[in-house]
Amino acid sequence: MEVERVQAIASFSITMDTIPSEFIRLEHERPGTTTFHGPVPEMPIIDLSDQDQDNLVRLITKASEESGIFQVVNHGIPVDVINKLQKVGREFFELPQEEKEACATPPGAGHSEGYGTKLQKEIEGKKAWVDHLFNKIWPPSSINYNFWPKNPPSYRETNEEYAKCLRGVVDKLLMTLSLGLGLEGNVLKEAVGGDGVEYLLKINYYPPCPRPDLALGVVAHTDMSAITVLVPNEVPGLQVFRDEHWFDAKYTPNALIIHIGDQIEILSNGKYKSVLHRTTVNKEKVRMSWPVFCSPPGDRIIGPLPQLVSDENPAKYKTKKYKDYQYCKINKLPQ
Ligand code: SIN
Ligand code: FE2
Repeated sequence: MEVERVQAIASFSITMDTIPSEFIRLEHERPGTTTFHGPVPEMPIIDLSDQDQDNLVRLITKASEESGIFQVVNHGIPVDVINKLQKVGREFFELPQEEKEACATPPGAGHSEGYGTKLQKEIEGKKAWVDHLFNKIWPPSSINYNFWPKNPPSYRETNEEYAKCLRGVVDKLLMTLSLGLGLEGNVLKEAVGGDGVEYLLKINYYPPCPRPDLALGVVAHTDMSAITVLVPNEVPGLQVFRDEHWFDAKYTPNALIIHIGDQIEILSNGKYKSVLHRTTVNKEKVRMSWPVFCSPPGDRIIGPLPQLVSDENPAKYKTKKYKDYQYCKINKLPQ
């Protein structure tokens, strides 16, 4: 069966001022009517090179408790590594359609790796204005190069380099979050699988959309990962739900956006919040983003850390294997 890519739909919608009806969201989801236009709360920008560790712990803990999303600057990943990551991703999506299909996720594959478009429609039969490419990029034993683009030729080297650089950032974040729980620095990382933590890169490609007021890119969700580290392009579109409103996140050049995911919320027994977010699309410009979902291996058992649970503070979440959590989340079953 031919899957219709949003990029292809967009290329013939561009001359019109309408979009196919399955992309028109119901009233309560439309960005045109549900985006808050009052004063926008600033997403904290945190200097990850801060030598005052107590201060860093304070800032990251506060952001993770209050909103579950923040940005980091001076994170140690060279600008040219990020620029190359963006360049090879963009070049892949600019290839002719047949070439992209060479790394398409096969139907019924039972995993998400490869190029694709979300197949199942959402509850109200609506579709998202986005195509994607998923690649596991760490640890090396989890990588399946069959789903990595051969073109552009530097895709592999560039993504491997990014994964290496990212490890330092992820380890530092997990250590800081662990200290913020009053625990030893290594506890959270060990809890999510130590050096077995898996990094799944998703490249989101949101083509220009003639009616950005009516469509959504990615629909409202929290990430099921432990944490997500995201590189955006310069076209804004990320929205965060806070105080009952949808707010636009401001773009900060060279910052990485950190999302607290469900597994850290669970391990922290609810102290840290997994952030509800969605994305809007743009009328003229291509928006792209490169989230890396850092998650426990499937067999890892995740639940509130015993050190944080007591008679006064009972466990708020079930303890289960990450793959079972994933299954319930993907199939919209109760956890
Ligand atoms: C996502 O949450 O999957 C995408 C976020 C973004 O594109 O900024
Ligand atoms: Fe997300």
